[in-house]
Amino acid sequence: MIGTGGFGGWWLHNCLPRFAGELEIAAIADVNAEARSAAGELLGLEPSRCFADMHEAMAKADAELCIVVIPPAHHREAILAACERGLHILTEKPIADTWEACLDIYHAVRSAGVKCQVVQNYRFAPHNLTLKQAIQEGRIGQLVYVVGRFAADYRTRGAWGMFRHEMPHGLLVEGAVHHLDQIRNLTGADCSMVAGWDWNPGHGSFDGECCALLTLRMETGVHAQYEGHCLAAGWRNAWYEEAYRAEGLEGSLVVDRDQTVRLLQHRPGRGLRTEELTTLQPEYASHQAIIRQFLDWLDGGPEPPTAIEDNIRSAALLFGAIRASETHAVVDVGQLVRQVQA
Ligand SMILES: NC(=O)c1ccc[n+]([C@@H]2O[C@H](COP(=O)([O-])OP(=O)(O)OC[C@H]3O[C@@H](n4cnc5c(N)ncnc54)[C@H](O)[C@@H]3O)[C@@H](O)[C@H]2O)c1
Repeated sequence: MIGTGGFGGWWLHNCLPRFAGELEIAAIADVNAEARSAAGELLGLEPSRCFADMHEAMAKADAELCIVVIPPAHHREAILAACERGLHILTEKPIADTWEACLDIYHAVRSAGVKCQVVQNYRFAPHNLTLKQAIQEGRIGQLVYVVGRFAADYRTRGAWGMFRHEMPHGLLVEGAVHHLDQIRNLTGADCSMVAGWDWNPGHGSFDGECCALLTLRMETGVHAQYEGHCLAAGWRNAWYEEAYRAEGLEGSLVVDRDQTVRLLQHRPGRGLRTEELTTLQPEYASHQAIIRQFLDWLDGGPEPPTAIEDNIRSAALLFGAIRASETHAVVDVGQLVRQVQA
């Protein structure tokens, strides 16, 4: 496991214990000595299996797979090293911090012939599964467009982990990659074109862009709108409380920060009917669903929906959105995806 502080610490406490019988951490690597020793103690690992250097950890560990929970600027180094050693990879999102790094990772995974899955946990949150099922069941008829909203209060510098306040396009790269992936998931389609901007209104909490408004055209003709806000001083839709609204020809499906999916249908002469849908209760949800899928895949099960083969399309959408903002142009995301396959 590469990265045991920050969110890696959350993984150790909240995700991995459930899989103790089938997933054993053979070694850890973290550049931070405190994070390393806390994780080593928690896992009962000998100091000889706790490394500062990820390459040494990969060289000395008797491991079949590698879990990557370090900031995206270091994903390429970690994943390319794992590929060289033939390790399967479960990596936190985004695939990497630049499109070029994503391409390098994608090609390295393919030529190494290893399995690589990207953690897109929000697809498997119970309320989002409920929303997706209702769309698929046709509860709102033909889908016309989807609106997604993320809004968190990170007006205090460092509140979202310092690297996100210092990096360019922090909201899009670290945050919106979840929501853009979710839009692909809910619409059941890849994005063909993206337009819009991310920007900083001049708030000192972020060096880079921390607000975004994007418009997406999906390959099916369905459209989507994304609103992202890291300086939310009013209505918030932070993690696991994002708002999604799907508009269909026969109604709307809405989920907001109360995580309840509602079906709204206007019946001429009889007013608006609102139905609260029962939230699905999967055996494995969110991160645990991802880990379950990954282990099953290694055991010969189906390729998970967020395997890199698919998730590279969410990365193309993310970096297409950045390009759209930087060039004030509509960007052909399909062309970026074709670049992957070339
Ligand atoms: N899926 C989710 O819901 C979710 C939530 C939070 C973070 N994340 C992802 O997890 C990853 C890590 O984010 P974080 O908030 O934990 O970051 P972080 O800055 O807290 O770093 C995590 C750990 O990585 C270590 N580290 C950094 N560079 C390293 C290197 N080169 N080698 C070894 N260790 C290194 C740090 O010392 C730290 O302990 C990112 O990809 C982020 O997007 C995902």
